[in-house]
Amino acid sequence: MNLPPYDKFPNLSGDNILLREIQYSDIKDIVEISRYDAIPAKNVAEAAIMQERINQNYKDGNSIHWGIADKSNNAIVGTCGYYRGLEKGEGELGCILLPQFVGQGYMTAAMQLAIRFGLNDIGLKRIFAITTRQNDKAIRLLERLGFVKIADLEDDEIEYELA
Ligand SMILES: CC(C)(COP(=O)(O)OP(=O)(O)OC[C@H]1O[C@@H](n2cnc3c(N)ncnc32)[C@H](O)[C@@H]1OP(=O)(O)O)[C@@H](O)C(=O)NCCC(=O)NCCS
Repeated sequence: MNLPPYDKFPNLSGDNILLREIQYSDIKDIVEISRYDAIPAKNVAEAAIMQERINQNYKDGNSIHWGIADKSNNAIVGTCGYYRGLEKGEGELGCILLPQFVGQGYMTAAMQLAIRFGLNDIGLKRIFAITTRQNDKAIRLLERLGFVKIADLEDDEIEYELA
């Protein structure tokens, strides 16, 4: 297992996207998709505090959170990362796109990079994701990536695992 933090933040490069560290200057653009423990940020100040907590979690080895940047202009279109389970050799993948970037294939490409990093570089034994039964887009995304449903959880949640 090769847990964070790393000497250098792991930027992951794809054809059209770069998974990179979130900079302070990005925060104003991602307030709408900033969350911590499932609680959304209401403004830039709250999103900045959340980002500090996320950075601390990375330093503590508990998570990796990437901004997904479009290589054409370096603007953030969404975020994804591993948020729980690393200490057990497992990674819970989470992700969210800014609404204007849904339906263009950004997240499939981003998750493929994150999955490859999780398996090859962190050495994860299991990658999973939790969503709700009603979240058709997330379910389509996960199944496209090769996840299969493994459990019905409480509160309409379902667990998917990379097969
Ligand atoms: C879940 C979520 C990330 C999925 O976003 P998405 O845009 O559907 O996923 P992608 O970026 O991979 O885009 C794939 C879609 O774009 C379409 N698409 C259009 N042009 C495309 C292209 N050039 N390349 C690939 N796909 C393209 C695909 O057909 C697909 O649409 P479909 O699912 O209707 O068939 C998004 O709905 C979201 O942010 N939801 C809120 C947070 C959330 O639920 N997170 C999930 C937690 S597990």
